[in-house]
Amino acid sequence: MTSLADAPVLADAALLRLGDALKDAGYRFTAVTPATYERVNGRPGNARGRSLRDVLGWSRPFGPGDLPDRFVALLEEAGVLHRDGDLWRSTVRCSSYDGGLFFHSAYPPTEPDAVFFGPDTYRTADAVAAHLHTRARPPRRAADIGTGSGAVAVTVARHAPHAEVLAVDINPVALRFSTVNAALAGCGDRVHAVRSDLLSAVDGTFDLIVSNPPFMIDPDRRPYRDGGGEHGHDLPLAVLDTALSRLAPGGTLVLFSGTGIVDGHDPLLAAATERLADRFAGRFADLQWSYREVDPDVYSENLDDSYAHAERIAVVVLTVTR
Ligand SMILES: C[S@@+](CC[C@H](N)C(=O)[O-])C[C@H]1O[C@@H](n2cnc3c(N)ncnc32)[C@H](O)[C@@H]1O
Repeated sequence: MTSLADAPVLADAALLRLGDALKDAGYRFTAVTPATYERVNGRPGNARGRSLRDVLGWSRPFGPGDLPDRFVALLEEAGVLHRDGDLWRSTVRCSSYDGGLFFHSAYPPTEPDAVFFGPDTYRTADAVAAHLHTRARPPRRAADIGTGSGAVAVTVARHAPHAEVLAVDINPVALRFSTVNAALAGCGDRVHAVRSDLLSAVDGTFDLIVSNPPFMIDPDRRPYRDGGGEHGHDLPLAVLDTALSRLAPGGTLVLFSGTGIVDGHDPLLAAATERLADRFAGRFADLQWSYREVDPDVYSENLDDSYAHAERIAVVVLTVTR
């Protein structure tokens, strides 16, 4: 199947035109969990797509005559139409958030370079928007670590209209999506996609660092999902360490993560507390931080072998201000 990475960069202009056409058509779709995709697509009558939402939201296969010709032509021009005999598929999805549209990988996201957008994107973007509404001084320079589709970086740009936002990711397909999505949102001049492992490829300090990094124990080691380490927390903790050395005075980290709770114990909270206590004793004596569960029980379908030790998986937001 052709992935966005194989398509010429010129195709990005066609993807942008597809996004504009979807906006004009009043397209909306709320991204759901894999379990919901399975259930809803499995219902009678849902095997084949017959509308833009079916094809670009639910990732259903479709055929000639199911979509207006101009949308089929735009999908083709953008290099995201996969033809397999009489049945075709879009290799991208398009989901809405806060009045904007965001392209990301089709369901199921099985390719190693798949670009994530899901319910956690909404949770992260909402937490970041809430932070921006309460902080005294708007950020001038921000970074979104592990930007994926760029939705959270765009949220920062929309709520902080003078900020330059670096949207960093190790996945080049994510950088292409985030560039197109930022342009579609009208903030392509302030959101810059950069290939970087954490913040290693960019210089300087930041007034705001936001992140929804991979945080799951993932036996399939998918790069958008596998957090690494015993609890899946290596990447969230690496983001925390990076932020502690790259936040400007007065700057804030908003870190979204999941954590498997074991006998009432939260291993992410324990590891973060240890790091932050060290910093309190040392050169960052002025840190203020908070940690809260934004949902106590998500992904119960994952409480299988890799989470057999956990009683629930919570999602949390850690906020640290220097
Ligand atoms: C769970 S996805 C979240 C995407 C997006 N922030 C959102 O909320 O929709 C995590 C992203 O982190 C990226 N990533 C993984 N390891 C990274 C690293 N070391 N440095 C930068 N990005 C990384 C992945 O490629 C993926 O796009």
